[in-house]
Amino acid sequence: MRRSVWCFETTRLVAQSVSKGNEMTAFDADRAKGTKREVYAELHRQAQGLFEGERDVIANTANLSALLFFHLPRLNWAGVYFLKGGELVLGPFQGKPACVRIGVGKGVCGTAAAKQASVLVPDVHAFPGHIACDPASNSELVVPLVRGGRVLGVIDLDSPEKGRFDADDQQGVEALAAVLVAACDW
Ligand code: SME
Repeated sequence: MRRSVWCFETTRLVAQSVSKGNEMTAFDADRAKGTKREVYAELHRQAQGLFEGERDVIANTANLSALLFFHLPRLNWAGVYFLKGGELVLGPFQGKPACVRIGVGKGVCGTAAAKQASVLVPDVHAFPGHIACDPASNSELVVPLVRGGRVLGVIDLDSPEKGRFDADDQQGVEALAAVLVAACDW
């Protein structure tokens, strides 16, 4: 089985495919370019590569957070909350330290978990009950992680720019959420 080992090399992500015979190849994975849809298609491809042969939830959510934060412009936070014991608990992320526990139904994250639906917030200051972890955040997109009708957690993206996220972002992150859910042992 081929496994991908990823590491940061200044501003580049380099993937080295390591096979049984010690054959090693590296491919260029500079920040994805193109239209928004093309960028998400590329991220989809890279996420599948990152998760290949790995079922660990922490490892895969950590890598997905890094992938999103590195490739998507104008973000100040990207990460995951897990539903544990009836509340959302902070998981792997990139950005400033964040609130650790969020009740289901509370804030943008808890709303997405309660509704089992993505919540796109163009202006967090106009969202009743928004939880401000980083005062720099002005817009937010939260996508639930759902398997068999059960919420496992959420993916949360924050931006300092109002109206940063649109339907293409929502669709792209929802597709990545589906890849993550299928790739891990929960
Ligand atoms: N703003 C979120 C809280 C999580 S932080 O943004 C990382 C919310 O309202 O649920």
